[in-house]
Amino acid sequence: MVLRWLLLVGLGVAEDEEVASGQNCHLLQTGLGFRKHLPLEHGTSIVADKEKGICRSHLSEQDWFTPIGQLTEAYGEDGWCIFGALGGWTAECAVSRRSHNISNFLAQPETGYMTYVSEPQATPYTLKLFDDRSLTIRDHFYPLDDLYCFVNGWYSLDRAATVQNFTYLEEVSEESCKHLAKIVPGYQNITLNDFDKESRSDEALLEALAREGGGFVSEEVVNGMRLHAATKCLLRGGDRGAVCDLASCAERGCLGPNNEVLYTARGECESVWKDRPQ
Ligand SMILES: *[C@@H]1O[C@H](CO)[C@@H](O)[C@H](O)[C@H]1NC(C)=O
Ligand SMILES: *[C@@H]1O[C@H](CO)[C@@H](O)[C@H](O)[C@H]1NC(C)=O
Ligand SMILES: *[C@@H]1O[C@H](CO)[C@@H](O)[C@H](O)[C@H]1NC(C)=O
Repeated sequence: MVLRWLLLVGLGVAEDEEVASGQNCHLLQTGLGFRKHLPLEHGTSIVADKEKGICRSHLSEQDWFTPIGQLTEAYGEDGWCIFGALGGWTAECAVSRRSHNISNFLAQPETGYMTYVSEPQATPYTLKLFDDRSLTIRDHFYPLDDLYCFVNGWYSLDRAATVQNFTYLEEVSEESCKHLAKIVPGYQNITLNDFDKESRSDEALLEALAREGGGFVSEEVVNGMRLHAATKCLLRGGDRGAVCDLASCAERGCLGPNNEVLYTARGECESVWKDRPQ
C-alpha cells in the first residue's frame, strides 16, 4: 500500500483516505523513519521547486527500482532533492543541505513524537540484540528510530556539534557512510524499493516487540538498520555532505547507563537545537 501510494503521489494522485485513516495516522507524525515521512502534500499535485528542495515533480516507477547511486549520478543533483517530492523527510533535508542549516529538517512536524514518548503509556522495554547488546527504549509507535540511531552509533556523537556545526555533521556523515559502503552488501545497488521493503518489515517486527514488552532482535534486523542508513548515504550522491538523520538522532535523545535511551522530549537530556520552536 505504501509503495503504491508513494508512486501515485509522484503522479499527483493520492489515496488520501487510506493513509489518513486511523492506525496509519501516527506514521505521519514522527522523526526519522520512512513511512511516517509520507508527503504531507498528499492530494495536491507536486510542483518542482528547487528552493523548496523538490527538483522533480514526477517520480516514475523505474526510479523506484533503479540503484540510487545510478540515479544521483545521472541527474548530477542532490539525491534528496531528486526525491524531494516524496515528502518533508527528503525535501527538507535537501534544503538543509543547501543552506548548511539543519533547522529546516529538524522542524518537520514531530509533535506526535514529542507527545507520545512523554505519555504515561510510554513505558520502557528492552530490545536484546543478537550480539548481546541491549537497548532500552520508550517509543512504542515507531521503535525503528531508536534502534536505527543506536545501531549506527548516532546516539553516541557530540550532540551539540552534530546539530549546530554543519561542518562537523558533514565529517561524521562521511565517516559513517564510508563505513557503511564497506559493510552493507550490494551497497552500490540499493534501490528505494529495497529501502521500502526493509523499513516495512523491520518496523513490523519492532512494533510486535513493543507490544510484547521487548524481546530479541535478530542480526537481520540489525543489518536492516545499516541498509536504512546506507540508503540515506546514497541519497547524498557521491561523497557529498551531510546525512540529516544524524542530527535528528542527536537532538532526539542520548544514551544513559545500560544503553537506556533518554529523550529530549521528556527532558531527560538537553536539547541541542538552538532554534527549537518553543
Ligand atoms: C537556520 O534556520 C532557522 C529556521 O529557518 C533560522 O531561524 C535560523 O536563524 C537559521 N540559522 C542560521 C545560522 O542561519
Ligand atoms: C566545527 O567543526 C569543525 C570540524 O570538526 C571544526 O574544525 C570547527 O572548529 C568547528 N567549529 C566550531 C565553531 O566549533
Ligand atoms: C550490482 O549489480 C550489478 C548488476 O546487476 C552486479 O554485477 C554487481 O555485482 C552488483 N554489485 C553489488 C555490490 O552487489
